Amino acid sequence: MTTIHRRFALAAGLATVLALAGCGKQETAAPAAASAPPAPSAARVLVVGTDAAYTPFESQNEKGEIVGFDIDIVNAVAKKAGIEVKFVNTPWEGIFNTLDQGDRDFLVSAITITPERRQTMDFSQPYFDARQLIAVRSDASVTRFEDLKTLKVGVQNGTTGDEVVGKLLGKSSANIKRFESTPLALKELEAGGVQAVVADNGVVAHYLANNAGAGFKTVSDAGFATEQYGLAVKKGNAELLARLDKGLAEIKADGSYDRIYASHFGAASK
Ligand code: ARG
Repeated sequence: MTTIHRRFALAAGLATVLALAGCGKQETAAPAAASAPPAPSAARVLVVGTDAAYTPFESQNEKGEIVGFDIDIVNAVAKKAGIEVKFVNTPWEGIFNTLDQGDRDFLVSAITITPERRQTMDFSQPYFDARQLIAVRSDASVTRFEDLKTLKVGVQNGTTGDEVVGKLLGKSSANIKRFESTPLALKELEAGGVQAVVADNGVVAHYLANNAGAGFKTVSDAGFATEQYGLAVKKGNAELLARLDKGLAEIKADGSYDRIYASHFGAASK
């Protein structure tokens, strides 16, 4: 365990304690008031966890509001599905545990549907296609993923970027620097602490477009698999999953998905 990792695990633990104490179901649970009938499940505000350091998918604006493509998608889905949602910023590390603990009803966080994750949670139908993209300094001689083999590479801990880099360099390679967020990894690239970062294309491209001064370029590699993002629910929560899938199908059918896509990415979606 790296220092960053350990420190972060502590912070995440604390966040969980705070979340348990301060939000979610406890607010709505009437304390043993026999007279008040339990609210029908459809009326309860569902708590949606998201790691809001992932522009343009989820981030916090100046007012502290959580915004982004994922947020717009879930709000549109919720409307169709007849559910009410509120978003709670949730660190990536430990985000999946919040489902099992019941602190979050579902997650939207540019989460790639993977066979491993499917073993411990359930996913909606895919709502977005992505792939890994490499960021390096503009003067780097990297032209393909293989070239990273001997470099120090930054990734967000526990992401699919971490997974592919682990396959190339060896999971326990000291050349893999794991960060608690993707922006932190990119900052480290700027500072020269790593020589490359591997992360989701949308986030890397957005960072470059908005940080021209960083002096980065991107390198794509046809060997990276297509990934698909899904909404994650606690394993077995078929009722919620069905509602989310219905909502997703409806926003895709009536053009709202395309409108949201265009408002964040410009071009029409596939
Ligand atoms: N798609 C990648 C994965 O699922 C990275 C997602 C990170 N999301 C975030 N909000 N930090 O592993």
